[in-house]
Amino acid sequence: MRAAEIQDDLAQILVTEEEILAKLDQLAAQVAEDYEGKDLVLVGVLKGAVMVMADFARALPFHAPMDWMAVSSYGASTKSSGVVQIRKDLDTDLNGKHVLIVEDIIDSGLTLSWLLENFGSRGAESIEVLALLRKPEAAKVVIDCKYVGFDIPTDFVVGYGLDYDERYRNLRDVAVLAPHVYS
Ligand code: XMP
Ligand code: MG
Repeated sequence: MRAAEIQDDLAQILVTEEEILAKLDQLAAQVAEDYEGKDLVLVGVLKGAVMVMADFARALPFHAPMDWMAVSSYGASTKSSGVVQIRKDLDTDLNGKHVLIVEDIIDSGLTLSWLLENFGSRGAESIEVLALLRKPEAAKVVIDCKYVGFDIPTDFVVGYGLDYDERYRNLRDVAVLAPHVYS
């Protein structure tokens, strides 16, 4: 796919790379203060959160172990099914740990609500959520997300880790996908 074709698939740039990095710096400063002296584990949700994790973890002034979980999600559709399946489980024992789940986006909230319940049963000392993006109008369940980057409209977005059918993940900005791509 050529650059011009990719541009044609994007309706609008919503959040630029510069805005994302500035926001992650802010959130990292806040997290550093909140977790000072604590045993923090970062848990990224594959694959969408890869970019957020990479930039957020590097913005932190201390090292926190990273672990990854893969759960089934949208595939080639743009709607959440609410059915969550573990594709790859954590390598870390969460017992007694302070867990920060690092997510790309909270849409319906169904995936996270399932994850929070699942992690809750593993004996973590605390569990909080950091999400780069949140779609407040799409919420089907209320998620207590302590660290939010940007609230955005309900349109399907791609870039900065977010994909449509495995495409557009490597875009630096977050953009609204043009409806002609999926309709
Ligand atoms: P829910 O609805 O369970 O969403 O909160 C969970 C996962 O779905 C993906 N998701 C998106 N992916 N553009 C994407 O590329 C979007 O607009 C979008 N909305 C949700 C994402 O992986 C999220 O973690
Ligand atoms: Mg995700």
